[in-house]
Amino acid sequence: MTQSPEEVHPAAEAGKRRAAEGALALVRDIRFLGVGTGSTVRYFIEGLPGIQQHFEAAVASSEQTAALLRQAGIRVLDLNETGDLDLYVDGADAFDPHFRLIKGHGGALTREKILATASRKFVVIADSRKRFNRLADSVAVPVEVLPFARSFTARQIVRLGGAPAWREHYLTDGGNQILDVLHLPLNDPSGMEIQLKSIPGVVESGIFAHRIPELIFVAGGSSTVERLERPDL
Ligand code: 5RP
Repeated sequence: MTQSPEEVHPAAEAGKRRAAEGALALVRDIRFLGVGTGSTVRYFIEGLPGIQQHFEAAVASSEQTAALLRQAGIRVLDLNETGDLDLYVDGADAFDPHFRLIKGHGGALTREKILATASRKFVVIADSRKRFNRLADSVAVPVEVLPFARSFTARQIVRLGGAPAWREHYLTDGGNQILDVLHLPLNDPSGMEIQLKSIPGVVESGIFAHRIPELIFVAGGSSTVERLERPDL
């Protein structure tokens, strides 16, 4: 979730930093590192200059992340130059016990899903506010749509049971628009991910039920961080 400075909560920020530290420890002797987008990932990027010898270059999921990486002195490459990635680290807006995610409140969902899918290992870093028993009880689902098809795709989403709201005055790095969808029936997240993707004009949805992470670092109220391994591994 993108935050304004007044929304910053010290305990949550400390948690994000701890979760990021968990993932930083995994960056060892690899070539290509994918880097997600958001306030939790910022802490991860802060730690990268100290371990630069452990990876060759990074691929960014957004222009914002690319700028932060360059500022930190990290070499940034394009996915077309690297081939598949060794590791992808990103935040999430919500996750459930089956490691299914909702992402995209920072608007980078399409590139994020591409990088997660192009990576051998996908690791999520989050504070405990992102943990839900059911995705249906969590947050709105961002859906990236072609501007040309915004109203059409919104009507199709209403037919699926969702209540889309246009994220006005916002364009993704791909030049597209976002609909934030409440009340989508999410008892079958992977089915809903496929249904959304099959609407002409939808570029991508923020439901990650197919490419789910192998590992989630989640920081709670205490000074610990939990390392959750994907249940089927
Ligand atoms: C951006 C994302 C972010 O990973 C998600 O919004 C979490 O961000 P934050 O770490 O700021 O809560 O999906 O598109």
